[in-house]
Amino acid sequence: MNNQRIARIIGSGSFLPEKVLTNKELESMVETSDEWIVTRTGIKERRVASEEEHTSTMGIHAAKAAMDNCNIDPLEIDLIIVATCTPDYLFPSTGALIQREIGATNAAAFDLQAACSGYIYALSIAKSYIESGFYKNILIVASEKISSIVDYEDRNTCVLFGDGASASVISHEGKGLEIRDVSIGTDGNQAELLILPGGGSRIPPSEQSLKDKQHFLKMEGREVFKHAVRLMEVAARQCLESFNLKGSDLAWLVPHQANIRIISAIAKRFGLKDENVHKTVHKYGNTSASGVAIALDELVQDKKVAKGENVLLVAFGAGLTWGASLLTQN
Ligand code: ACO
Repeated sequence: MNNQRIARIIGSGSFLPEKVLTNKELESMVETSDEWIVTRTGIKERRVASEEEHTSTMGIHAAKAAMDNCNIDPLEIDLIIVATCTPDYLFPSTGALIQREIGATNAAAFDLQAACSGYIYALSIAKSYIESGFYKNILIVASEKISSIVDYEDRNTCVLFGDGASASVISHEGKGLEIRDVSIGTDGNQAELLILPGGGSRIPPSEQSLKDKQHFLKMEGREVFKHAVRLMEVAARQCLESFNLKGSDLAWLVPHQANIRIISAIAKRFGLKDENVHKTVHKYGNTSASGVAIALDELVQDKKVAKGENVLLVAFGAGLTWGASLLTQN
């Protein structure tokens, strides 16, 4: 008898704030144009959280939807991992706030910070815990209120980002997307390419740090772009090669939703047609850790992944971090 435990995504759900911020509206805020944004990024609009919506509250909506999706009771959840770079507070963790509100009183909870690669990093942890038998049911929540760290006077960054959340239940039982492999990596030599300098222990909030806008994210966009394509290709190849698969064996590529040109470049490197690449960047922009999870949830809810089909997730983010995960529907 084969007693090997298999980790699967058995339920998922997402939450997007109602407020839409269009390119037209951004034209009145900074010197930009709908034409520039669409041709350089593919983004047409993005969602922005209200003052009452937080990383935790968006995450709670997504978590409840994911648990409903697979009919699991919150008391059965053993661990909550929240992937975010915009936590409600530095501490307590957003995981603790979500645990309280969903009533998952048997679960341990922590936050994981790997920027846009956070969801894939969380999958690697969930897979290990479940396959080792340490835990049975894990809730991953990827939630971001990036609008809280965006300078809406900086056209280089403010057009790119949006808010949103997605959650997945990973279990040793039930049907869903088997997590066959996860590959993750980091290059700390590029740490300053994408950074939120202020608010931590190195530059605590002060009158000067606010004046210097250190509480807003800074990005060397062109440099990040170059690394993004290269690193996502490395991570994706590692996952595929460990199962002797090629791009043509994939039903779907679900890439990090940062820029349509990055997505096209990575799809081209694996010989994938446009119809095999799932995109949400046009309507949600870059929602950091939640981007790849929102896109995957959309595919699953639309029942677009058939039994036996392979899906490859791939992401990159500040750190620099990157990751890929090979999933198979069963
Ligand atoms: N509207 C109009 N012009 C603009 C805008 C804007 N919103 N933003 C920049 N420009 C200008 C620049 O000032 C520059 O002008 P200059 O030549 O006079 O200096 C010109 O457009 C070209 O700028 P580039 O930076 O070369 O533009 P590029 O084609 O590289 O596109 C972009 C910029 C969209 C940021 C691209 O580099 C990119 O997508 N990079 C990757 C960013 C990314 O994915 N980051 C997220 C990482 S994930 C995470 O962890 C959060």
